[in-house]
Amino acid sequence: MHNIQKITDDIYWVGGMDRRLERFENMFPLPNGVAYNSYLIIDEKTVLMDTVDTSITQQFFQNVVHVLGDRKLDFMVINHMEPDHCANIGEIVMRYPEVKIVGNAKTFQFIEQYYSEGYKNNYYQVRDSDELPLGKHVLKFYFAPMVHWPEVMFTYEETESILFSADAFGTFGAFAGNIFADQVDFDHVYLDESRRYYSNIVGKYGIQVQSILKKVSVNEIKIICPLHGPIWRENISYIIDKHDKWSRYEPEKKGVLLVYATMYGNTENAMNIIAGKLAAKGVTDMRMYDVSKTHPSYIIADAWKYSHLVFGSPTYNNGLYYQMESLLKEMAALQLQNRKFSLVGNFTWACQSIKVMTEILTGMKDFELIGQPFELKSSLKPENEKALEQLAEDIFMSLSK
Ligand code: FEO
Repeated sequence: MHNIQKITDDIYWVGGMDRRLERFENMFPLPNGVAYNSYLIIDEKTVLMDTVDTSITQQFFQNVVHVLGDRKLDFMVINHMEPDHCANIGEIVMRYPEVKIVGNAKTFQFIEQYYSEGYKNNYYQVRDSDELPLGKHVLKFYFAPMVHWPEVMFTYEETESILFSADAFGTFGAFAGNIFADQVDFDHVYLDESRRYYSNIVGKYGIQVQSILKKVSVNEIKIICPLHGPIWRENISYIIDKHDKWSRYEPEKKGVLLVYATMYGNTENAMNIIAGKLAAKGVTDMRMYDVSKTHPSYIIADAWKYSHLVFGSPTYNNGLYYQMESLLKEMAALQLQNRKFSLVGNFTWACQSIKVMTEILTGMKDFELIGQPFELKSSLKPENEKALEQLAEDIFMSLSK
C-alpha cells in the first residue's frame, strides 16, 4: 500500500520512516526515529530525487510505482551518495533499465565503490550550475562539497523555486503523518533534534555550509526539500537563519552548559554548587549533563546552542576520565568554535584533568578560558567556598558582557 504526499501539483514525497533503527550511522540514538525523504517529479520527463535506506525499500517502491503509474522513470538524481539515501540505486536500475543516473564525477566514483561498475551506461554527468529541462520544470545543479560528503549536490527546481537540499536543513525524527514544518510545532517537536543532527553530522563543515548558502541565495526559495525531516514551505528564513548561525559557530543563546564526569559524586557536587550560584545571580535556562549517562550527541548539540561551557572531571589513570576526554575530542573534531569555557578538575593525589582539558579546549578556535580552573581535592570543604563563588562570579560577569 502506497504512502505518498503531494509537495506541489507535479511533485510528490515518496519517502518513508524508520522507527526501529536504534542509532543513525550506528552512533547517534534515534528516540523518535528518522525520515528518509525521496521525491518524484512528474513532467514530460520523470525524475526521482534520491532514493532511501534499505530499511524502507518495500514502502519506497510501492510509493514510486504508484506515482509513476505506467510511466517509465527517465532520471534519478543522486544528490548524496551516503547509503541511507542511495541504497536503492541498483533496484531502480533493475526496474527501469533506461533510467539516467544524474550525478557528478565523485557521485559515480562512490557508486562504483559502494555498489557496482555495472551502471556506467546509465550515467548522466553534470557540472556545477548545469541545467536539466524536464518540460515545465527545470533542474539546476549546485555542487555542495562536504555538506556532508564531497559529492553532495543541491538541486534547484527553477519553475516552482524548490531547493532539494540533500542533508542540509535535515533533522532526526520520523513524521507522524505531517511532512511539512508548518504542520507541526517545529520548535517543540524538532528544533533540538535539528540542532543535534546539524552539529553532529554537518557541524565540522561550517565554511562549506556558508558557501552553499551564499551560492543558492541568488535564487528565490519557496520550498526546501531536505533528505531527512520536515519540508519547508512557510517561514523559510527561520530555518535558513538557524543554519546560518550554526554554521558560523555563533551561539544561539547567551547561557551556560555544565558537563561533568563523576565517580563518587564529588565533582557533581561542585558543578551543582556552581550552577546554584549562577542561578542565584539570575542566570536562567542552564543545562547540565553527566558524560557517563548522556550520549555525547545531545551534549554537543547544546554546546552548539550555548555560549558558556563549564567542564568538570576527575583525573583518571593520570589523565582525563575517558568519557570526558572522548566528548572533548569529538567536539574538537567537529571544530566547534567561539565559546567561553571554565574548568573544574578533581583529584586525590595528582591533578591531570585540568591540564588535559585545557590542552584540548585551548586548541579549539576562539575558545577562551573564563576564571581560574577550580582544583578540587577529592571532596568539597568549606574553605572551597570562596574559589567557587569567584568562579561563578567570573562566569556571570562574562555572560553579562
Ligand atoms: Fe542522511 Fe549524509 O546522509
